[in-house]
Amino acid sequence: MDKKQKADVSGRGLGGDFKVPFPGKMSPYTQDEINAVVDVMKNADGLTQGQHMRQFQEDFERYSGVNHAFAVDNASNALVLAVALCKLKAGDEVIVPAYTFCSTAIAVGALGVDIVWADTDEKSWNISPKDIERKITSRTKAIIAVHLLGMPADMPAIMEIAKKHGLKVIEDCAQAPGASINGQMCGSFGDFGCFSFQTAKNISTLGEGGILTVKSDEDAALVPGLRFVGAKAFPEGRERYWVPAMSTVDEDITGQWPFNFCIGEAQCALGSVMLKRLNDINGTLIAQGDKIRAALADTPEVTFNTIPKGYKHLHHQFVMHFEGAGGKGRDDLMDILVNDYKIKVIVQYYPLYNFPLFEKMGFGEHDCPVLDEWWGSSFSLPWWCGIPEETIDYIVDSVKKAIEQLKSA
Ligand SMILES: Cc1ncc(COP(=O)(O)O)c(C=O)c1O
Repeated sequence: MDKKQKADVSGRGLGGDFKVPFPGKMSPYTQDEINAVVDVMKNADGLTQGQHMRQFQEDFERYSGVNHAFAVDNASNALVLAVALCKLKAGDEVIVPAYTFCSTAIAVGALGVDIVWADTDEKSWNISPKDIERKITSRTKAIIAVHLLGMPADMPAIMEIAKKHGLKVIEDCAQAPGASINGQMCGSFGDFGCFSFQTAKNISTLGEGGILTVKSDEDAALVPGLRFVGAKAFPEGRERYWVPAMSTVDEDITGQWPFNFCIGEAQCALGSVMLKRLNDINGTLIAQGDKIRAALADTPEVTFNTIPKGYKHLHHQFVMHFEGAGGKGRDDLMDILVNDYKIKVIVQYYPLYNFPLFEKMGFGEHDCPVLDEWWGSSFSLPWWCGIPEETIDYIVDSVKKAIEQLKSA
């Protein structure tokens, strides 16, 4: 494999001559954001676990109304920490939506716990509370709710189910920083929230980054050691401060090895500055989404998820459902959009139980009739913050024309 092929493995920037490409990041950095990184490079005393990490954590706690926030290297590892903090053992089960990014489920499998796939709700396209209840057994210990595409999952219903059955709740907020239900921020409902600042997210700390939020003080006390190799400060008052060494290593959770999921100071400094712009970014994404929804309201072949009253859906990605036209389906529509109109539409997610990884690891079994039926008709538009008006008009126009072409073929 040569260098170029390797670079293409991520699926971003794949060749092709697109009039509307699919960029790898949401928005360019401002000069203030660039300055924040350079300042750390020039002036910071240490480059990890310092004042910028603490400041970012405090800023995030304030922004999202959570009790505790811990900056980490990515959301995949925030999810691993959250599952570890649920203190599960082999044979326990965690209910996970089958329609999400793979990290949500990998965190469960990687810690030796069983994944149970939950089906998709027909209207919201998020995890179905009805199906969660159907999947609960005596071995169920936790639920992971994903606020997919920036749309809040039905947290009031999920919290009710968790309370009734004594289950932990992890919110995967990777795609939803700033999403809320009746003013309550996603990430503040469950026991844990996991946020991502990866390159394509609404704000990005130089390509990778994440935050774990924690509700209880007891769980929060375990995070610093679990996040960094079990290392803790020695208690004050030692006669010789260096005896036996500068730090001590201890396990936080019996039977659980600690990790190193730390994030650098420059990323945290950038995170604090970007957080000030997050509401504006979210506002622009919402306006773009609203515009496309309105412009395609007269095109019944294309449908969107329903946003319940009081839900702030960020439109982090723009997924649509194609009901078919002229006996043709989603892939025929995508063929026209890609080849005739040069719009880089993609299929965002595939039911995780169908991927070879999950099948090989023993989690291919599923009972998700809605998702099995639904996913084959879904597709996503190229998406970033600040799509020019004329590009939005071109996309909408092209979708309408492509559907007419299918009808008349
Ligand atoms: C729903 C969801 N969960 C988890 C992750 C993992 O985030 P990260 O790339 O920060 O590990 C992502 C990233 O795309 C995601 O979309």
